Amino acid sequence: MLTTKSKSDTLDQVATASIPELKALLDSSDTHLEHELQVRAEAIAEQQFGRRIYLRGLIEISNICRNDCYYCGIRSGNERVTRYRLTADEVMSACERGYEIGFRTFVLQGGEDPYWRGERLVSLVRNIRTSYPECAITLSLGEMEYAEYEALFRAGANRYLLRHETYDKEHYQSLHPSAMAQEHRLQALRDLKQIGYQVGTGVMIGSPGQTTAHLAQDLDFIRRLQPAMIGVGPFIPHEDTPLGTYPAGSLSMTLRFLALCRLLNPRALIPATTAVATLHPEGRLAAIRSGCNVVMPNLSPLNHRADYALYNNKAYSGSEAAEGVALLQAQLDTIDYQIDWGRGDAPAS
Ligand code: 5AD
Repeated sequence: MLTTKSKSDTLDQVATASIPELKALLDSSDTHLEHELQVRAEAIAEQQFGRRIYLRGLIEISNICRNDCYYCGIRSGNERVTRYRLTADEVMSACERGYEIGFRTFVLQGGEDPYWRGERLVSLVRNIRTSYPECAITLSLGEMEYAEYEALFRAGANRYLLRHETYDKEHYQSLHPSAMAQEHRLQALRDLKQIGYQVGTGVMIGSPGQTTAHLAQDLDFIRRLQPAMIGVGPFIPHEDTPLGTYPAGSLSMTLRFLALCRLLNPRALIPATTAVATLHPEGRLAAIRSGCNVVMPNLSPLNHRADYALYNNKAYSGSEAAEGVALLQAQLDTIDYQIDWGRGDAPAS
């Protein structure tokens, strides 16, 4: 049993904590320790960014996916999804609407849809780059080869989100069909970094089969990679998937993990995700109070939002929506935070 003194020593040295020490922090049932973690994480975020939250306009460009991940609602094997892909014009209108609202980062996210690849995707990115020279373009479109990532970077993309999902190989294989290899994803992350993208990675908390030993390894991986962005949210079951009967991840574990991410990566951009907001009404604000500093409101065309259901009850209205930023600001007011309308690049190290 750790004494209070040695606990606060552990927290002082968390940046260099060993994997077993990280695991002990995740395992601890001491609510004081959990609170202390959050307080320290929030203080570091405030030191780095002030009490300010960056916004990203999230455009879900396609829910067509060649992959069949066992947890994901838009997996190829799910025949109950109404499939859609946005046209280039629809994406450009979403950017226009977003720009008018004030967004200076557009995130193009989607399944691994063969339509939105290659030259078609490159020219879409180039178009956005030309129309919005001062905006950041983030892509979140899954695994590609080096040359394709490079072409997109040259066309004007700045950032790329690709969660590693879990660092444990066996666990990775239990969440994904054998056609998917963890090594390919890790290589993609290395490629993206080398090309010069600001790279984001991350995990789901409480995915089936996950242990705190896995999560401690994930934290260590994230610490070594030093990504510019870290995306973390609870696993939430989707009824039409093989893992649809498993319970959702817990809010408390999600907040601890987020706080540790902040302590290990002080300058990272860490969103309070839609998943944490979906899990619990206070999830978004609690995540911010645990060191998060980004929110990604949904900027997809309204008629397709419900079809991008990665998990049950995914929120896409109110303060989740680009139209709801006033509501989001009102919520942020209650914890004395403000929206920052800047591009919000990762601060230089
Ligand atoms: N619950 C929570 N997050 C999910 N994702 C996919 N399916 C789920 C789910 N059922 C996450 C994955 C992916 C990101 C885009 O969404 O981590 O990387």
